[in-house]
Amino acid sequence: MKRRMAVRMLQCALFLVLGVVTAACGSMYGKDGQESAPEFVFTYAENQAEDYPTTKGAYKFAELVKERTKGRIEILVYAEGELGDEQAVVKQLQYGGIDFVRASLSSMSEFVPELNVLQMPYLYKNSEHMWKVLDGEIGDEFMEILDGSGLTGLSWYDAGTRNFYWTEKPVQKLEDIKGMKIRVQESEMMAAMVETLGGTAIPMTYDKVYSALETGEIDGAENNWPSYESVRHYEVAPYYTVDEHTRVPEMQLMSQYTWEKLSLEDQRIILECAKESALYERKLWTQRSEASQRRVRSAGCVVIELSDEEKERFQDAMMPVYQRFCADYMDVIDRIVKVGEEQ
Ligand code: GCU
Repeated sequence: MKRRMAVRMLQCALFLVLGVVTAACGSMYGKDGQESAPEFVFTYAENQAEDYPTTKGAYKFAELVKERTKGRIEILVYAEGELGDEQAVVKQLQYGGIDFVRASLSSMSEFVPELNVLQMPYLYKNSEHMWKVLDGEIGDEFMEILDGSGLTGLSWYDAGTRNFYWTEKPVQKLEDIKGMKIRVQESEMMAAMVETLGGTAIPMTYDKVYSALETGEIDGAENNWPSYESVRHYEVAPYYTVDEHTRVPEMQLMSQYTWEKLSLEDQRIILECAKESALYERKLWTQRSEASQRRVRSAGCVVIELSDEEKERFQDAMMPVYQRFCADYMDVIDRIVKVGEEQ
């Protein structure tokens, strides 16, 4: 009993000393106008690995914000899906349980269906076309569409183009997809796209795909080069068909609840740093995409490049998806196409 009491007293004394030291440091930083103890500590969810371009973008963002607020705002990045799958995290953002996320538009469009427009199959001619749209008037309008959803859009991240891949055999033409069980993101549009091509869509979160490919629960999946390589899907699905069916941009988002806690000046800093981190991520994306292609090819994967005619057949087959998801937004689709024509 006496011993326990002594330990308690020692603990109290330690806390006291620590408290005094922390307070002294805090005030010391404050006086210098240098870094002060954080006024806000925020959480940032990322479902990719530590060395992935989007995760590096998140760290860059956190670093810039810390620097420009002189340490008043600290952002803790949790990678590898530690805070949950994308849709669960976006829901948390709406309640202010998590403060930031980088999410694929496919996951987001279940919350804000208008976002489907920006990820329609074969919408963009190339990446320049997409950036001209997203960094221009149309991109700004879509950021504003988020108002009232509990989410604040900050910047656009790159995620390249998505392609199909298969466990057992190479898919060389449209007809080969018939009857294939294909994992899709939890997105109605993605499911409709696969069904339109003749496959069976199996919605599933990202973290479950490797084992589903390995056990044969699915015959294939689809993703960009860096994801295919980073989460090692190529080990269990070695046939990669480059059909480039979608170019799905990603968004850095903030909980509106958290956004409203900040002063106008801090909001300005957050936006500025998010945009800078996006430019950084886009550069890293291009490098990683090339490195990933090299890695999977040298691991022995079979890469099937579709001819232009075959790609066109894929593209034509997608028309019903436009009718179903974009009937009310054909004017926006036309504007997007026009931006591509002006290139
Ligand atoms: C990409 C994207 C992820 C997404 C994943 C998926 O890798 O960057 O955010 O979760 O696709 O297919 O689910």
